[in-house]
Amino acid sequence: MCPEIQETGEGEDSRDIAPDPHVDDDPDSTYGGDAGSNDEAANEHLDIGHELYTKTLGNKLFLAPIDPDPSKILDLGTGTGTWAIDVADAYPSAVVTGTDLSPTQPTWIPPNVRFEVDDVEAEWTFPPNSFDLIHIRGLHGSITDWPALYAQCMTALKPGGWLEQAEYSAQFTSDDDTIPPNGGIEAWNRVGPECHRVLNRELQVLDGMRSHMLDAGFRSVAEFPYKWPIGPWPQNPEFKTLGAWCRAHVDSGLENWTLRLLTSVLGWSVEEVLVLCANVRRDIRNPKVHAIHRMKVVYGQKPTG
Ligand SMILES: C[S@@+](CC[C@H](N)C(=O)[O-])C[C@H]1O[C@@H](n2cnc3c(N)ncnc32)[C@H](O)[C@@H]1O
Repeated sequence: MCPEIQETGEGEDSRDIAPDPHVDDDPDSTYGGDAGSNDEAANEHLDIGHELYTKTLGNKLFLAPIDPDPSKILDLGTGTGTWAIDVADAYPSAVVTGTDLSPTQPTWIPPNVRFEVDDVEAEWTFPPNSFDLIHIRGLHGSITDWPALYAQCMTALKPGGWLEQAEYSAQFTSDDDTIPPNGGIEAWNRVGPECHRVLNRELQVLDGMRSHMLDAGFRSVAEFPYKWPIGPWPQNPEFKTLGAWCRAHVDSGLENWTLRLLTSVLGWSVEEVLVLCANVRRDIRNPKVHAIHRMKVVYGQKPTG
């Protein structure tokens, strides 16, 4: 089911927003999961996100060119476990392990799925050289030491195995300068980075994933940038639908991304946070505001030699 699509009337933008793959074959929260709560609304938000990501990837669960019969797949920070469950259905040859700080995953699951409560930043006990694919999605804002995490991924992957990560931006942009000055989006764009400066966490990881993977020694690193319209403002029907999903994703995520962070880190009152969320909602419901949420997928391969 698609989230609501309203005709946007005048001020629509007819430009297509297409993925723009950049392949680099170089040999040589929330804001972040830790910031949110694990209630039902948070889980619904994650499931909307799962739809949004998979629709964006042409109904694929990942882009890395893995072997067709993988035996072990790992999903770090699995959330509701929906990705792990779908991958287990698609690859019956594989045992799919999803790890998370919170045991919020369902218990009625395919026989080849395992969920484990684990901190991805603690030292891993997985055997080295064992995974065909390690998947990370939506961990921006949650991790204090990305190079250490990529190093653990490198060790745990089989030679020739793949690491894939998908992350969206902590900020909203527009290509045509339609974000209103002094509105909700502009305020939003300021507070996230402020929180993560205080927390000393890298927030905008989507722009750093590629270089982190290259630095960690991954090969055949490829980066795929996407732009999600926030709201059904594009005329192109495919992007109109994607925009409706993206707006539902933002709408359902706002309080979860901000409440705990802004009250505990920046000392805001709950009322102030709710006003910020209301102002963001007003902006993203204005058809003249062509806001965009950037997202990137990056994958890289563990060297075989
Ligand atoms: C934004 S959610 C993304 C969930 C899932 N990957 C998805 O795309 O639907 C981030 C998840 O990472 C988990 N998380 C955050 N920090 C973690 C850590 N250090 N170790 C394990 N899981 C973590 C959170 O509990 C949350 O479920």
